[in-house]
Amino acid sequence: MSRVLRSVVTGVGGYLPERVVTNAELSTRVDTTDEWIRERTGIRQRYQAADDQPVSDLAVEAARRALVAAGRTPADVDLIIVATTTPDLTFPATAAIVQRKLGCPIGIAFDVQAVCSGFVYALSVADGFVARNRSKCALVIGAETMTRLMDWNDRTTCVLFGDGAGAVVLEPGEGEGTTADRGLLGFALRADGTKQDLLYVDGGVSTNRQTGYLRMQGNQVFRHAVVNISEAVTAAAADAGIEVSSVDWFIPHQANQRILEGVAKRLGIDETKVISTVAEHANTSAASIPLAMAHAVNDGRIKPGQLLLLEAMGGGLTWGACVLRL
Ligand code: UT7
Repeated sequence: MSRVLRSVVTGVGGYLPERVVTNAELSTRVDTTDEWIRERTGIRQRYQAADDQPVSDLAVEAARRALVAAGRTPADVDLIIVATTTPDLTFPATAAIVQRKLGCPIGIAFDVQAVCSGFVYALSVADGFVARNRSKCALVIGAETMTRLMDWNDRTTCVLFGDGAGAVVLEPGEGEGTTADRGLLGFALRADGTKQDLLYVDGGVSTNRQTGYLRMQGNQVFRHAVVNISEAVTAAAADAGIEVSSVDWFIPHQANQRILEGVAKRLGIDETKVISTVAEHANTSAASIPLAMAHAVNDGRIKPGQLLLLEAMGGGLTWGACVLRL
């Protein structure tokens, strides 16, 4: 086999803001109960960023932790991609703000907007730089302040989302061109713009100059989720040349425990291989996969050399999956 360059994850980090909002607290604000939220979603609590804490602050904390884990410093970083749907400002990109706050040298910095699928999309974009030796040290960050998009009178959405950030460091590494290589091995990315009405924000710069509120037909999104995600996972596994059954860990987007379990069941993935953190931080959109990854790396479940399967689905609709060996 010929030598190939792979984008290798060398560090993972996660950050959750200090303030915890429990289901019990929400039940004092809207007509809901802890029991309903736990039964329908698995969520027990979510975190909320402080009013003076923009999403870039969350991203910076997660990035710092990922850099420490990788044994790198901000001075090494030459590419920053932030997947976010809740940027600090309309422009500049949150990635450029993160670059300034971290003190990284001049390099490449931009945002990716694919809502909850943003992290999987951003990994694929970063792979285009790192695996072509155009970046030696990339930060791929999923960071969100979803609570700022909530209509706090709408019980069907406001109980589901939370704030947080997760980051990985990607560095080029030589492989043999086999599935035993460390690094990103395969992807499948999808979008279906005809399903916009199922999940969107009813505001925007060039529509009404408002931030807007998140609107979702939850049960319709749910209906699409399991089928769509399963197809993308199968396609990503084929792209990587692996069998889904051979993955060590399944790290899904953390939106709903029932979706997570439904996808795992449909794909024949044992429940002991599923990383679930949705109970702790609810749906943090693009941050949820790296947050779950950081959690399971830090508690020692995920180990170097293991095969990981990531998947997500969100507004657009967008969805996708990625296979990587740590
Ligand atoms: O990350 C982006 C992707 N998003 C998702 O993956 C979300 C996908 N969807 C879901 O997770 C689920 O559809 C939800 C958790 C949003 C809702 O669960 P569901 O089992 O699909 O419930 P439903 O929407 O069909 O609503 C059932 C009932 C309704 O009452 P009626 O009409 O049957 O009387 C709702 O009004 O539950 C009611 N309901 C609530 N009750 C108490 C909806 N939200 C609440 C609530 N508390 N917070």
